[in-house]
Amino acid sequence: MKFFIDTANLDQIREAQALGVLDGVTTNPSLMAKEGITGANNILKHYVDICEIVDGDVSAEVIAVDFEGMIREGESLASLHPQVVVKIPMTEDGVKALKYFSDAGIKTNCTLIFSVGQALLAAKAGATYMSPFIGRLDDVSTDGLELIEDIRLVYDNYAFETQILAASVRHTMHLVNCAKIGADVMTGPLAAIKGLLNHPLTDIGLAKFLADHKKGN
Ligand code: E4P
Repeated sequence: MKFFIDTANLDQIREAQALGVLDGVTTNPSLMAKEGITGANNILKHYVDICEIVDGDVSAEVIAVDFEGMIREGESLASLHPQVVVKIPMTEDGVKALKYFSDAGIKTNCTLIFSVGQALLAAKAGATYMSPFIGRLDDVSTDGLELIEDIRLVYDNYAFETQILAASVRHTMHLVNCAKIGADVMTGPLAAIKGLLNHPLTDIGLAKFLADHKKGN
């Protein structure tokens, strides 16, 4: 399972990279704005800064909503750095753009997926990744993990190569459950990744080992 971090915060990206388990980064316009990154040039520079920290894929989202605009913007994002993956929303023009980029050999991440039908379309259009937002489904009392299970079933039925990128992961149990279901990738906050470290028996066990070592010396 690949671990992506879902942030535009360079310190958090560096911390996750230093842990040695980071496979990539996802961003979106809200995450960029949260870091105070505004203006086209600053945003483009920020993508390059992120690519220089991590080894893996970095999703950069198009703002255009029409086909021609998505193509123009996506091509310019893809030319920024070889690690850039063009993030395209799940709309009719988005599906056409996914197919265009797939034919052109440019990696894509289809975002804002909330149904199996949308996941099927993204795979048919040749998306590299497709992002079902599990936390946002949970927010409206719909089981986000159930969607991941259903998409896994459909993709396995037809051996689709599109990777299931479980997005809107909000906490460590989301991450663990996505791994149990077989999501190819998860993207979430640093806290969800670092939460995997924690177990009180580890802390108690380590404290006892150190205390016993001290007694014997
Ligand atoms: C995915 O690529 C999105 O950036 C993200 O996971 C959305 O998460 P949120 O629902 O916590 O905003």
